[in-house]
Amino acid sequence: MADASRFHAEREAAVSIASEAGSLLQAMQSQARTINFKGQTDLVTDADRASEQLIATRLEELFPGDGMLGEESGYSAKAQSAERLWVVDPLDGTTNYAHQFPLYAVSIALIVNDVIEVGAVYVPTLDEMFSAERGEKATLNREPIVVSTNDNLRNALLGSGFSYNIEERERNFEHWRRFIVQARAVRRTGSAAYDLCCVACGRFDGYWERGPSAWDLAAGSLIVTEAGGMVSDFRLRTFDPFASEVLAASPGLHHQMSTILSD
Ligand code: IPD
Ligand code: CA
Ligand code: CA
Repeated sequence: MADASRFHAEREAAVSIASEAGSLLQAMQSQARTINFKGQTDLVTDADRASEQLIATRLEELFPGDGMLGEESGYSAKAQSAERLWVVDPLDGTTNYAHQFPLYAVSIALIVNDVIEVGAVYVPTLDEMFSAERGEKATLNREPIVVSTNDNLRNALLGSGFSYNIEERERNFEHWRRFIVQARAVRRTGSAAYDLCCVACGRFDGYWERGPSAWDLAAGSLIVTEAGGMVSDFRLRTFDPFASEVLAASPGLHHQMSTILSD
């Protein structure tokens, strides 16, 4: 038998749990939604909470010593002392979900000693499972994926997102304007995890956003790098999933996009 990679079991677990949570979200989509507000425009539904509860239960069953950071419940009791931290967005794209716009994802990452080792992003309505383990190939439905080879911004399809913070939204307009003018087109999918996966599999040539949290970015950022892409902040500094700023792109466009985002 071939040697399993270091975090093979954790990657398989993340894939299986993301799939189960995604099925739960889809099943709940047809029921009446309870929608609450976390901020002026920041929604949370009963489905977000049910999905996070399921993920927390499964992780506790499989890896009882690990900590968890979930968007809805914050840090678990064990998170402070545990070496390993699961970072979970139980429903990325809540606004899409609440409006029956059929694009949302479940995102699960494992961080060990500050290094992202595993990521899984599942998009239930497309039945697409993206996953990666550091040092191993990124896959979509178990087939290897690679970023685009495009190095011409004029031919690029890009993605971006707008934070729930209204001031932060205003700040993205100038960047959005520049890319709309200089690239082929820019899309806003409403799911940061899916945006990153679109870069990983070459649908997008690049994606930028200011404001997202670690649970939006951790899994997808690893999937991009393991697919051959570059991930950093706007000024090409080392990516930190907790720093609320991301630029992910094919190697041929990463620098050009940074120049546009930096001044
Ligand atoms: C949001 C989505 C959106 C991004 C926001 C995120 P949520 O996550 O990923 O695309 O622009 O920054 O907060 O609230 O739907 O889980
Ligand atoms: Ca999110
Ligand atoms: Ca969410």
